[in-house]
Amino acid sequence: MTSRNLPAALVAARDRLLEGVSRRDLRQQAAELSLRYRTVAGSHARAEEVLSYTVTRMPATYAAVSAVLDELNRRVPTFAPTSLLDLGSGPGTAAWAAVTTFETLACVTMVEEELAFRALAARLVDGHALLERATISQANLERQPELAGQYNLVTAAFMLAEISAQRLAAVIEGAWKATSDVLVLVEPGTPAGFARLRSAREQIIASGGHVIAPCPHQSACPMAGNDWCHFAVRLPRDREHRQVKGVDVPFEDEKYAYLVLARKPATAILGRVLRPPRVDKVAAAATICGKGQIEERRVLSRHRDEYRVARNWRWGDAIT
Ligand SMILES: C[S@@+](CC[C@H](N)C(=O)[O-])C[C@H]1O[C@@H](n2cnc3c(N)ncnc32)[C@H](O)[C@@H]1O
Repeated sequence: MTSRNLPAALVAARDRLLEGVSRRDLRQQAAELSLRYRTVAGSHARAEEVLSYTVTRMPATYAAVSAVLDELNRRVPTFAPTSLLDLGSGPGTAAWAAVTTFETLACVTMVEEELAFRALAARLVDGHALLERATISQANLERQPELAGQYNLVTAAFMLAEISAQRLAAVIEGAWKATSDVLVLVEPGTPAGFARLRSAREQIIASGGHVIAPCPHQSACPMAGNDWCHFAVRLPRDREHRQVKGVDVPFEDEKYAYLVLARKPATAILGRVLRPPRVDKVAAAATICGKGQIEERRVLSRHRDEYRVARNWRWGDAIT
């Protein structure tokens, strides 16, 4: 499993950029950005906030993307991409996670609308041989969703949230057309993030794509009512992160929703654990998305072999 920590070279590059920068200003920018992300749909980071983003949000978005790429690795162990396209790349988060997960990558392209993020991404890759050669290009994907070329792996992390509802389908279509093998979409683990992914899922299945994860099937999503499909990853908070956020707890849990979509089907799975399971001496119980429906499964400890497997279920696991 890939480490959930930001790579050491990235932290070193970030820390060089932080030299001489007022932590008070960073803290204020981080707080304003966090408030806007939570309260204003579609909000973007402003130019003066991008450095604070690398301290307070990038560790979490990196951890979520690397958890998803690990799942892609488990689902399709033979996948060995050589080309990556990262859409709405910001400071290069998903590109860093992808090159750390897939050593086969030889060519990286990032697409980002904001100059401040492109400039920051270019400085953060200092010293990373492959990422230093990355193409970091400017595009507003809402206006120009059509992309040149095709890439083995296309990622869009925490980006669809910033696309207007009217342009979402066009942006997803552009991303899918640019995908020769696998498209990875990661969003905040909120009802709104899940809703965007649910509509992307329907769109890509209708275009002939296959859902590799998290869903164990291609049927209509059975999530109903106010429920939403999401997962969580725990990540450490380093000193800078704690200082800028003004917190003491040395870790945080990032909730995320995701989709891994592919041109070809993968080996089927039987289900996906949708919430933290409850395990005691009597039974292991979990909410599982199975073949087209969500069910509560309870395995009694007297069924020893089944129980031994079930008590190790974790939230987000595939059941094979
Ligand atoms: C929340 S940040 C995520 C950055 C990075 N992918 C990550 O996971 O940390 C969203 C990024 O998408 C970019 N973005 C938003 N709308 C865009 C558009 N229409 N075209 C291109 N980039 C866009 C923003 O500028 C920002 O860098």
